[in-house]
Amino acid sequence: MAFAIQKLLAQVYMKWFHIPLPPPDSFKDQSVLVTGGTAGLGLAAAVHFVNLGATDVIITSRDSARSQAAIATIERDTKGRSKGRVRVMDLDMSRYASVVTFAEEARKIRQGKGGIDTVVLNAGLSTIAPTLSEEGWDLNIQVNTLSTILLALLLLPWLRAERANRSAPAHLAVVGSGRHLEPNIQEWKKWTSETGPLEHFSKPDNWPGASTMYATTKLMAQYAVNELVKMALGSSGRPKVVVNTMCPGFVASDLSRDLKQLGIVVSLIVTIFTVIFGKSPSNGARTYVAACLTKESEHGRFLKFYGSDADYQETADTVITGEDGRDMQALVWSEMKTEFVAKVPEVREILKS
Ligand SMILES: NC(=O)c1ccc[n+]([C@@H]2O[C@H](COP(=O)([O-])OP(=O)(O)OC[C@H]3O[C@@H](n4cnc5c(N)ncnc54)[C@H](OP(=O)(O)O)[C@@H]3O)[C@@H](O)[C@H]2O)c1
Repeated sequence: MAFAIQKLLAQVYMKWFHIPLPPPDSFKDQSVLVTGGTAGLGLAAAVHFVNLGATDVIITSRDSARSQAAIATIERDTKGRSKGRVRVMDLDMSRYASVVTFAEEARKIRQGKGGIDTVVLNAGLSTIAPTLSEEGWDLNIQVNTLSTILLALLLLPWLRAERANRSAPAHLAVVGSGRHLEPNIQEWKKWTSETGPLEHFSKPDNWPGASTMYATTKLMAQYAVNELVKMALGSSGRPKVVVNTMCPGFVASDLSRDLKQLGIVVSLIVTIFTVIFGKSPSNGARTYVAACLTKESEHGRFLKFYGSDADYQETADTVITGEDGRDMQALVWSEMKTEFVAKVPEVREILKS
């Protein structure tokens, strides 16, 4: 409770007081990939990266009209600096085929050029009711967890290889949420002997509500990223790719767009809450910038600009780092690996290596 109040107060504080930006040449001549660059935090992050010197910024989209609008916004907010520096690529994370094709194309574009310096896996959603993806999983799990981690897996070994002759590591930042600490994994233990968490939460009968489902997808992604953190280490034990998760805090974006379908009262409450607590996407995306400048010593860290590290660790000990958390992580990771190996042959080789 005290942690929740502290977080809320910090949100109000962070809404008005901006996280400082690094020097303007911090991403000079760098290549950056931001998934879900058509709206909210992803779009704002693309603007920051161009303004901070990046020269090859890839954003992803699943709709050509939204692509055009995003390019126009970035051009406006960078005062034309983005011209010739930003490209949009198709990516629909509700389908593995789209993720695989996207990864192939992105690798082709940057092959032999040091890969991509900075990857931000940002695309995400929150549905208000159970919806199944084409792959048979709950859509929140599909996009926020499975496809996000699949894309990370498809890019990670390539990023490492492309980095072989460079002293500076690449960065892979997965957008999480502080809400990944909310799920009660003690409750999960009642059914994990019969079914894995991904399968359990994908059954419409087990829908835990929109809010809990969102937090659950972020916890499962965090578990998987903890495994990627190990895979990112080079033979020297140092990371060739610095992997982090981060939370931008509460941001006024389109993430809760579906909530408005629940009627005028809910819509009004969401709007008021957002006006009071929601920071701008541009301010929120400053956390992304910080997460893409972490040092090697911060490899694996969950980055946020609210609450204390001690409070975070206390809850993380229950959900992630303690014995139950470690067991749950192993279970979720095993379920994910089985799914990827069955549906995406390339992953079998990646996991072997
Ligand atoms: N807003 C917050 O308070 C908050 C707090 C913590 C973490 N986050 C995280 O921040 C990330 C960005 O969220 P946001 O707040 O900026 O939300 P947003 O404004 O709704 O933006 C989400 C982005 O993801 C894309 N996307 C959604 N479904 C997709 C799919 N199936 N395939 C490919 N792209 C898809 C969207 O594309 P379209 O334009 O096509 O819909 C959009 O570009 C998410 O991972 C979210 O969980 C947000």
